[in-house]
Amino acid sequence: MTKIISGFSKFTKQEKINWIASTFFTEKEDAVSVLKKYWNSDENLQQLHDEFIENTISNFYVPYGVAPNFIINGIDYAIPMAVEESSVVAAASLVAKFWSARGGFKAKVVSTTKIGQVHFMYNGDFKALETYFEEIKPSLFEVTDTITKNMRKRGGGILDLELRDKSDKLNNYYQIHASFETKDSMGANFINSCLEAIAKKFKKEGIEIVMSILSNYIPECLVRAEVGCSIDELGENGVEFAQKFQQAVQIANVEPHRAVTHNKGIMNGIDAVVLATGNDFRAIEAGAHAFAAKDGQYKSLTHCEVNDGIFKFWIEIPLALGTVGGLTALHPLAKLSLELLQKPSARELMQIVAVAGLAQNFAALRALVTTGIQEGHMKMHLQNILNQLGASEKEKQELTTYFKKRPVSHSAVVSAYAKMKEL
Ligand code: MEV
Repeated sequence: MTKIISGFSKFTKQEKINWIASTFFTEKEDAVSVLKKYWNSDENLQQLHDEFIENTISNFYVPYGVAPNFIINGIDYAIPMAVEESSVVAAASLVAKFWSARGGFKAKVVSTTKIGQVHFMYNGDFKALETYFEEIKPSLFEVTDTITKNMRKRGGGILDLELRDKSDKLNNYYQIHASFETKDSMGANFINSCLEAIAKKFKKEGIEIVMSILSNYIPECLVRAEVGCSIDELGENGVEFAQKFQQAVQIANVEPHRAVTHNKGIMNGIDAVVLATGNDFRAIEAGAHAFAAKDGQYKSLTHCEVNDGIFKFWIEIPLALGTVGGLTALHPLAKLSLELLQKPSARELMQIVAVAGLAQNFAALRALVTTGIQEGHMKMHLQNILNQLGASEKEKQELTTYFKKRPVSHSAVVSAYAKMKEL
């Protein structure tokens, strides 16, 4: 039987489910039941979710947790995190508490410029192209007037349009490189609408527009977050800890295999807050990794310095975030997250998210250079293993107590559970 279908998007939700269940599942009723179990009982809320994308047949839940005790620039925060990995929120909470007793986190936005490009082909004299660009440039701004009106009122808009010759990289390839200030919105739709209007006006015989699109590589939309304290404040083995911690960062700077995992840990914290606030984590991921490779080699996004008995640890990362527009007001939990964060501006959210990344990296490196990552990780994972085994609440409690002082591994839990069942 063919599994290819046309007109699927026109089906009702029930028809889509029926087709999926009967085409891909042997236990059809079970599949339908799982899909429906995740529907929200509030029909309006479910409809809202249904309409976020096409062909919605259910919801995919990710836990929504909170990491309290963050102090950022002297302000207290409880940071919302949407993430499925068991240790992320626990690690963030621990590190928040640790640094709240040492002055908290400091963060500042370095710059907020976003980028978009009209990519085009031109097979002619560059001087003539330049002259045409200069002539038409005022009209390129003018054609976006209606699109940029509200943004300009808020202090944003198109900052500059630049003609760039890329023909040394690809025959006949040129671009209009546009920079934008989008204030509290992430600005993707705004930027793309401006670029399409610009491309339409710019087009003429001899110029072949290929595409117009924002760039998720935005090294000029940059935020810096840091922590620091005297080495004595790092604990009993402060000197040794600081040294190993710094070495761990240095290793990530020179060894891409390590750098990718190091930065993955940073993104554990970053993506969780980005998702919880209704922002686009794929854009953030792409931009962050490109930034990590900006020197021609993939490197750590965090940095560490130990000087004159002072430990300093910081992150610099580009983050295009919005606190208005997109899902931020539409998704009830995204809206709630922003309220929980005391209704931040986009700049403030950049600071909070950078701190979440730095905290997560501190937690990972602290564990890695001391006890190792598995001890804490497996303790957090214990509940998942017990749930997989189908342990009851009472059994879970007993086994959690049992493993408090023992190393957790999948096989150790399986055998402890089996023994308990035998008794
Ligand atoms: C696991 O999700 C993240 C870590 O591997 C990060 C790291 O190694 O730095 C623990």
